[in-house]
Amino acid sequence: MTSTGIRLHAPAPGWSIDADVVVVGSGVAGLTAALRCEAAGLTTVVVTKARLDDGSTRWAQGGIAAALGEGDTPEQHLDDTLVAGAGLCDEEAVRILVTEGPDAVRRLIATGAHFDESSEGGLALTREGGHHRRRIAHAGGDATGAEISRALVEAVRARGLRTIENALVLDLLTDADGRTAGVTLHVMGEGQHDGVGAVHAPAVVLATGGMGQVFSATTNPAVSTGDGVALALRAGAEVSDLEFVQFHPTVLFLGPEAEGQQPLVSEAVRGEGAHLVDADGVRFMQGQHELGELAPRDIVAKGIMRRMREQDTEHMYLDARHFGAEMWERRFPTILAACRAHGIDPVTEPVPVAPAAHYASGGVRTDSQGRTTVPGLYACGEVACTGVHGANRLASNSLLEGLVYAERIATDIADAGNTRHARLPQPLPAAERPAHPLLPPEARFTIQRIMTRGAGVLRSEASLSEAAQRLHRLHADARDALDENGKTAEPGVDTWEATNLLCVARVLVAAALRREETRGCHWREDRPERDDTNWRRHIVVRLNPDRTLAAHTTDTTDFPPTLPQPQEQ
Ligand code: SIN
Repeated sequence: MTSTGIRLHAPAPGWSIDADVVVVGSGVAGLTAALRCEAAGLTTVVVTKARLDDGSTRWAQGGIAAALGEGDTPEQHLDDTLVAGAGLCDEEAVRILVTEGPDAVRRLIATGAHFDESSEGGLALTREGGHHRRRIAHAGGDATGAEISRALVEAVRARGLRTIENALVLDLLTDADGRTAGVTLHVMGEGQHDGVGAVHAPAVVLATGGMGQVFSATTNPAVSTGDGVALALRAGAEVSDLEFVQFHPTVLFLGPEAEGQQPLVSEAVRGEGAHLVDADGVRFMQGQHELGELAPRDIVAKGIMRRMREQDTEHMYLDARHFGAEMWERRFPTILAACRAHGIDPVTEPVPVAPAAHYASGGVRTDSQGRTTVPGLYACGEVACTGVHGANRLASNSLLEGLVYAERIATDIADAGNTRHARLPQPLPAAERPAHPLLPPEARFTIQRIMTRGAGVLRSEASLSEAAQRLHRLHADARDALDENGKTAEPGVDTWEATNLLCVARVLVAAALRREETRGCHWREDRPERDDTNWRRHIVVRLNPDRTLAAHTTDTTDFPPTLPQPQEQ
């Protein structure tokens, strides 16, 4: 790989620092990678977009899945993960997850995370969709992510790791051979490092989380704008499986016009016995799957959408009145508070719920050590596509994946000859790479509406084609203004974010259009069947230096020894 990629239009870096490793993102994956790299003696810098605890991890409710319960085994966890992944999981990647997972959770506990315990002692374990056993460890009832985040942030502070908050990563720096040389970033601070700068490092770990903000309504926080995937694409890395966006079935319904981050109603509520009902009180998931309301997430989301269509309504209901006030307060305090804040009392009334964008099952393509197709660039957590999730992530596997693969990345970086004494690669001056045109800030909302309408839970060739055309128009207008008149929107956080959103939206729609079948969380109304003959394959995309997309398909998650000839989109 010798491509040096393209870059966002941005001022030249005005300051720089050196490190052995720069970790971008501060969720479970990023902070675990950073702590392990630091423990291996590597000078590690954590760069994060807002504050250290502001990413998606903090919002995780249900918990972390691992075969920790009596009678449970990694093999059973593997089986459930493969079934949820609808034929597209990389079995080896899943095997790593489920076998290394239990010890990774124990190490997390040793780092300081406190999980809920049962009355008999030991971890309290619950169930979620697709799991045949109770294997979800949780904390603070339904505040698992917040507790994990607290413990890891405290550990990072206690170890004195260097952190740069309020910093939007812009682009990967590479040397003349295409090797990673660090990142450029924009810091919104007042200190010594303000504005656009660079962290030079021979290893970069992307742990930037998801891209839920590409849709109008999502469970993801405002920072989830696909920055890591967009950066990787500009750097010439491959991304895979982007069409598999998981829509969480039970998100609090706040009205058809609700936009931005919406309150999640954890699957664990169903795991503890809540019922999904329609407006007539009928439990419509019964008989649709052997696990009923606890079927894998894609099946429940589809069941809800079908019923909404049949009844011409905008939501269904989650009924857990039978829990009573004491159980709601003890087991689900966060959800109870969120519902009550919106005028709904789950103790006395069913909760209106509808699906919303929740998790990117695909992302930057990695091998089992978290290496991407660009030397020195790693990815873990939601931004990565390790092959674990296939066409649909199993509930509560994401925190575990973040932990397990972050640890593997740190081991790989440390084993790769300890970069500490290696000469830092000389980054190419940014100006030598073609610049990507910027979109104006308001384009964010246009993109969200296009994506929600054309590439939401229900998709078809017609809806996706229209979305592709409208996204292409946005891209072409920005490109022509830059190429013909040298004009582009003013660089700034809002414009960089909007540009990243467009970049990931284009790839997502191109892949969804190309996948002519229904599988996992990709639901094509015009192709309602799963097509194992033609589509038990991954769609892999990269960005050409002229900013067009190149895509190929592969039936394996291994990197091919030589990259196949790209096909223009
Ligand atoms: C939930 O609590 O339902 C979400 C957990 C997950 O996304 O894995």
